[in-house]
Amino acid sequence: PGAGRLKKTVVMVGMMGAGKTAVGRALAARLGVPFLDSDSEIEAAANMTVPEIFVRDGEPFFRRKESQVISRLLDEERGILSTGGGAFLAEANRKMISEKGVSVWLNAGPEVLWNRVRHKDSRPLLRTANPKATLLELYEARLPFYRQADLMVVSEADVSVEQMVDRVLAVL
Ligand code: S3P
Repeated sequence: PGAGRLKKTVVMVGMMGAGKTAVGRALAARLGVPFLDSDSEIEAAANMTVPEIFVRDGEPFFRRKESQVISRLLDEERGILSTGGGAFLAEANRKMISEKGVSVWLNAGPEVLWNRVRHKDSRPLLRTANPKATLLELYEARLPFYRQADLMVVSEADVSVEQMVDRVLAVL
């Protein structure tokens, strides 16, 4: 697809650390289409960070906002939409994404994911006694959902963002 020729919004799904935001942004730049990010939209609307929202309002509140934001973004504009790692778990979200977009699962293994998120404090779900074990549990529990994405691209430890963009473009 070239600039302005996207038939549907391309929705990046997958675990935290898979590269949804970095790859989504670079893909949008390459194609010359808008880049949309559900976490950023939620943060801007709430004027709080995602961790702050989890602490103050709880995860169920965040999930409701996430669904509303994804629904709005899918209706508003065609582009590349990066979602949070939990967005593709809810059936209602998968349904609207599959109706109005093309989902791309960025599939990175747990070791790769862990190395990308271990030094960051921006993932409220990993604020546990053993964040690595939590990440592995989330990974395994979520695989059956991510497998339902329309397309899949593998992300190894040493693959660059631009290489990931090439891989996504090869399957789109
Ligand atoms: C979440 C992932 C985060 C963010 C929130 C919940 C998850 O987004 O939406 O912390 O459930 O995996 P990233 O995947 O961009 O880290």
